[in-house]
Amino acid sequence: MRKKIIAGNWKMNKLPNEAMEFIEELAPLVKDTKNEVILCVPYIDLFYALLTVQGTNIKIGAQNMHYEESGAYTGEISAEMLKAINVEYVIIGHSERRQYYNETDETVSLKLKKAIEVGLKPIFCVGETLEEREAGKAEEIITNQVKQGLSKVKKHQLQNLIIAYEPIWAIGTGKTATAEDANNSIKAIRNEILKLYGKEIAENIIIQYGGSVKSTNAKELFEMSDIDGALVGGASLKADEFAKIVEYDK
Ligand code: PGA
Repeated sequence: MRKKIIAGNWKMNKLPNEAMEFIEELAPLVKDTKNEVILCVPYIDLFYALLTVQGTNIKIGAQNMHYEESGAYTGEISAEMLKAINVEYVIIGHSERRQYYNETDETVSLKLKKAIEVGLKPIFCVGETLEEREAGKAEEIITNQVKQGLSKVKKHQLQNLIIAYEPIWAIGTGKTATAEDANNSIKAIRNEILKLYGKEIAENIIIQYGGSVKSTNAKELFEMSDIDGALVGGASLKADEFAKIVEYDK
């Protein structure tokens, strides 16, 4: 049985002191959950967040990284730097990065390769635009993103990789994909993984849904056959709301 992994994506929100206060509030609320809890926080909050989660079941992730180890890349952060301070997860290829920062399937594939080599656990995001969905191309787009993104990743390296299916039209818009639509898209991704890597990997890989997940729709989504949790944006900014999503099964 695949476990449920619920990851918060704070995006560009929360100062270090707010990050610490949030974790202190969240920790007691989720301490008994059997689901995995991750917070992906801004770079500047990482160190503070890592100190504050000590002794809790909350894991910490970054939201991006560079694929080179070091060099003349002003303003960038490498996978090695994240690993050096014990960051465990990293979001790769979020649609906002693809949209605003020229992230491509090629850079995503380089980042996934690097993250895995360094021992970080990637949360690899894919998703279609509304236009693509309405043109009946959603499945083709997302399976292609999966294929391209994973082009440099070998079968034995998939152990710690999470995929997040996030339809772009559902991010931050209040529009959620219906549980059935989300489940069908995730099934298509799982089928692509089956073709690329075989049955065992396809059955075990964690595939989250993301896009306007909140405490009121989490249960319906997470009860679908193929949805293994969520990547949560807006609703991960309030500890009590995020805790309710993590504890959807209580
Ligand atoms: P949202 O964002 O929950 O605010 O829609 C999800 C995401 O971008 O990961």
